[in-house]
Amino acid sequence: MTTRDEADLADFLIVDDFVEPAREALDPKAFAYVSGGAGGELTIADNIAAFTRRRLRPRVLRGFPEVDLRTTMLGREVSFPVALAPTGFNRMAHDEGEVAVTRAAAAAGIVHCCSTFSTRTIEHVGEAADRPWFQLYASYERSVTESLVARAEAAGYQAVAVTVDLPVVGYRDRELRSHVEIPSEFFANMNPDLHGELADVVMHETDQGLSWEDIDRIRAATSMPVVLKGILTAEDARIAVEHGVDGIMVSNHGGRQLDRSIAALDALEEVVEAAGDSCEVYLDGGVRRGVDVVTALALGARAVFVGRPYLYALAVAGEAGVARCIEILREETANALHLMGAATANDLSRDQVIP
Ligand SMILES: Cc1cc2nc3c(=O)[nH]c(=O)nc-3n(C[C@H](O)[C@H](O)[C@H](O)COP(=O)(O)O)c2cc1C
Repeated sequence: MTTRDEADLADFLIVDDFVEPAREALDPKAFAYVSGGAGGELTIADNIAAFTRRRLRPRVLRGFPEVDLRTTMLGREVSFPVALAPTGFNRMAHDEGEVAVTRAAAAAGIVHCCSTFSTRTIEHVGEAADRPWFQLYASYERSVTESLVARAEAAGYQAVAVTVDLPVVGYRDRELRSHVEIPSEFFANMNPDLHGELADVVMHETDQGLSWEDIDRIRAATSMPVVLKGILTAEDARIAVEHGVDGIMVSNHGGRQLDRSIAALDALEEVVEAAGDSCEVYLDGGVRRGVDVVTALALGARAVFVGRPYLYALAVAGEAGVARCIEILREETANALHLMGAATANDLSRDQVIP
């Protein structure tokens, strides 16, 4: 595992600068796990392409000397509207795992959403963190689901994000070809006897028949706000609102589930419209630059989440790497916002993005 000092990290100027060093630092299976996705990885490519094909209409002479990046997510102030998406098994990337990730997020004043499949326990991460969100993979056993949610609430988590786009694990060519296996000690929150190929273990622990009634049950079991992660259509957004959710994360799981599903950014507007003022809408998938952040905000996202960028940074330099990744995104976002002529995210408007 490479360790890099701060001076060295200053040479990383964009988050993609971490990709090649991460490939060198990780064994090929771990790199396949982090970087890969479903099928021919068309959706992975499309998540990025959806941002790069948009063009922006900057406004000028707005008369503010500096931008204010602060916003709120479910009522909590964050220093800028980027958060860290839940990713499983962070010790595949670095020994410090989720603790490094959550500490970097806390130091930067942003949200970290910790996965059910974290390699440190809910409580361990909760102690190192500042009100993280808990990403829930509902178990086929209701009591297990309820206990996970109760543990997160007791450990001071702010919200629960239920992942709804994994009734089955996507057909992930690269993971399957390289036989990615997860060591049993990496299942910090679950049955200690688990081990084996990733898709098998994930399927063993999750509910393949999750439904809207389960969402009602989860809402009733906790006083934490509930966010649904993995909505891509106005139809489902409307049902989510009817079920009283507090937030919707527009996401295709970083292209790891249904290959050829719509790019996250392309789904954003219809979900924003369907959600209206009923709940907050976030986006993840393909966010790599400050201009991506600003594009999503202009189209109605309250905030965006990033996944792979911080995992590559974690692989390269642990907590310091994640901190540098966040800092790059913050600087780029401030720069892009200012150049769009917006003093705050609220000053951005939809007509500043050409479809
Ligand atoms: C290695 C890896 C593991 C992931 N594990 C989870 C998980 O445990 N739960 C979940 O809801 N999403 C998981 N995701 C999806 C992310 O939360 C997020 O949707 C995705 O990474 C965003 O796309 P991006 O990587 O392009 O930023 C994972 C993504 C990656 C790359």
